[in-house]
Parts: sequence; structure tokens; C-alpha cells
Amino acid sequence: MRELTPDTITDAVLEQMATTPDPRMKEVMAAAVRHLHAFARDVNLTPGEWIKGIEFMTLVGKMCTPARQEFILLSDTLGLSALVNGLHDKTALEEGTHTSLLGPFYREASPKLAPGSQIARHVKAGTECVLYGRITDVDGAPLADATVSVWQTGADGLYDIQESASSVDYRGVFSTDKDGRYVVRTVRPRGYSIPMDGPVGEMVKAQARHGMRPAHIHFLVGSPGYRELVTALYLRDDPHLADDVVFGSSDDLAVDIAENDPACPIAGLPSIRFDLKLSREGEADKTSGRVGSDPSAILRSESAKVAAPAPAAS
Ligand code: BEZ
Ligand code: FE
Repeated sequence: MRELTPDTITDAVLEQMATTPDPRMKEVMAAAVRHLHAFARDVNLTPGEWIKGIEFMTLVGKMCTPARQEFILLSDTLGLSALVNGLHDKTALEEGTHTSLLGPFYREASPKLAPGSQIARHVKAGTECVLYGRITDVDGAPLADATVSVWQTGADGLYDIQESASSVDYRGVFSTDKDGRYVVRTVRPRGYSIPMDGPVGEMVKAQARHGMRPAHIHFLVGSPGYRELVTALYLRDDPHLADDVVFGSSDDLAVDIAENDPACPIAGLPSIRFDLKLSREGEADKTSGRVGSDPSAILRSESAKVAAPAPAAS
């Protein structure tokens, strides 16, 4: 038998896994093992550090519930979600508006609203603003009847479901008109801290990071025949625009609130104008491009597993 040493163990593992029938699984797992072993060698990982890592991942798993995905938060704070988004953008047939993180607060079940409706249930004086623009293809041709889902925090920096699981506020689903126009009445969003009461929060604190996201408004835009666009607009004047704890903000998604835009469809209110461009759908869009999860989707897939008949005994 070959003697296994720190120099030969990687090849031994790769050889044993070479029987993997699924070629993509084989490729991904081989790369994962190579990089994991290289990391351990690089930092000269000690047994104490190895068990600390295992304990940390265990706590991350224990923090997960159908309504909270601590592993996704870990991926977000390590920049992995933003990297996967960026790699997915590169697979688009055409270069449309860039994506940003879906985050944990998207809910499929959101109210369908008429153009120009206010998405906040209570509006404090002086906080109201209008969000408007056009949804087009990459050449600027309007996409009529596109679905534009928006969600954001209120003035206290909290999403509705952080206040109570059944609360619905600061979110809505709109449709574009025949010229691809959307109009949303909303309130100025606030920057906020990611959930810091779990192991990922402990990690962020141990790294002396602030844990803040810059103020933003999320978008999920769909139109038949086009790649679904998951993105967000970030307020340029937010102090954390350049050091978002989850690396979602970028210059091309930064917006200003105009005080007196004569083109604003609701006169007299401050406004943000932003046009979003969708790429035509391609091969890479046969599976979801969402980097994030809606708890209702997790619940659906969990109940599907429970409902699935057990495989016949052989
Ligand atoms: C958010 O934008 O809602 C979000 C994204 C990643 C982690 C936490 C929150
Ligand atoms: Fe958010």
C-alpha cells in the first residue's frame, strides 16, 4: 500500500473519487478537494483550528430554519454569493443590467399593485419618493407586461418580516405598461445591519467589520423569453456604499434621489429614475439564476420531499 503523506494525500483522494459517474459532480468535487487541501497546507491548519471550523459550521447549520438560511448569510459575508452572481452574469446571452443579491427577505407572495401605488402602509412626512423607469431589452426596446417585484426596508431599517412573520409592508409586484414603464411610490429606504445574532454575526464581529448594508431597493424583474433579473438599486449617499458587508453594491447600481425631476410621473415628489435592461433567455437560464432563497420555496421543496414515495426496497 502507498504511504500517505501531506504531499500524496490529495492525489489519493482524487484517484478514489475518479469513479464519480456524473462529470460535473466529478469536476466540482475534485476542485473542492484540491483547494481545501491547498488551504490546509497554506495555513498549516492545526487540529484545534480544524475542530473550531467544524464547530462553527455546526452552529451555522443549527441556526438554519425554514425562515432563516445562515449558510447563505455565510456565503454572502464571504463574498461567495456576489462571486456566483458575477459568474452567472457572464453566462448571459447579452449584457443587461448587472445583478445583485436576492437576500433573505424576498417573498414570492407579495401584493400585486396598480402602477404608482404606494408600497408602504404608513408614510412619515418627508420620506416619500417615486421610483420609475423602463424595462427594456438590451437595445432599449420596451418590454410590456413585465413583472417588477420590489421590496425594501422601512425608515427603521427593518423588513416587514423582521417585525412579524405575517406582516406585509414595503413590497409589491407591478406590471409595466405598453412602453415598458413602471412607477412605484415608496419611502426612502434605510441602510441596515445583516442579522448579527447567529454564528455569522459572531464571525463578522470577530473580524471587526461593521455588518452594514447600504440603503437599497431590491428588484426581481421577469418577462417571457428574457433572463430573470435579480438586482437592487443603492443610494449613492449612503456611507456604506463602498464597503457593503455582503459585497452587493456597485457603482453601476448606485442612484441619487432627484428633488425636482420634471419627468417624474408623480409631480412634486423626490424621485429615482432607473431603466433596467434584460438579456434574452439562453441555455444557462434553464435553471434558476437566483443566488438566495425565499423560505416559501424552501418549504415547498421540503414538503415535496416528504410527499415523495419512498424508493422501493431492492
Ligand atoms: C438583503 O439585502 O436583504 C441582504 C442580503 C444579504 C444578506 C442579508 C441581507
Ligand atoms: Fe436588502
